Amino acid sequence: MTDKELKYTQLLKEAAALLDGENDLIANMANLAALIHETMGFWWTGFYIIRKGSDGKEQLVLGPFQGPIACTRIAFGRGVCGTSWQRRDTIVVSDVEKFPGHIACSSESRSEIVVPVFKADKVSAVLDIDSRYLNTFDETDAHYLEQIVKLLN
Ligand code: SME
Repeated sequence: MTDKELKYTQLLKEAAALLDGENDLIANMANLAALIHETMGFWWTGFYIIRKGSDGKEQLVLGPFQGPIACTRIAFGRGVCGTSWQRRDTIVVSDVEKFPGHIACSSESRSEIVVPVFKADKVSAVLDIDSRYLNTFDETDAHYLEQIVKLLN
């Protein structure tokens, strides 16, 4: 096991213990964001939740997060977050400047991973993580973060 895999294995256990017995979505998202952020030392870690806007259309709205202030609303198919929602799949971006349509909430962000959260087979939110360094995220991050967001169900 690599150091990263070991860290994530431990993190997954801690996350399961943290959420055990609590079913409030916002409280669980807040604690998960803090746990991942503190353990892994990322630049920005948080959730965007799908909600209806004033036009009646669904969009991503900023939820619990750790790190600097961020964009509040993201449309379906826009940026890395909206694209992950549209594709219903995790997206790993090794260099944000090379992702067409990337939304730069912070000029410090260099690489990013977005993991969809499913509820009854529908995307209900996304977990978005930003790094100040290029190439931070890979298949290992995708694998463990997908397990971690499943704990929200
Ligand atoms: N970069 C994201 C926007 C959210 S911030 O990174 C917190 C995107 O392109 O969807």
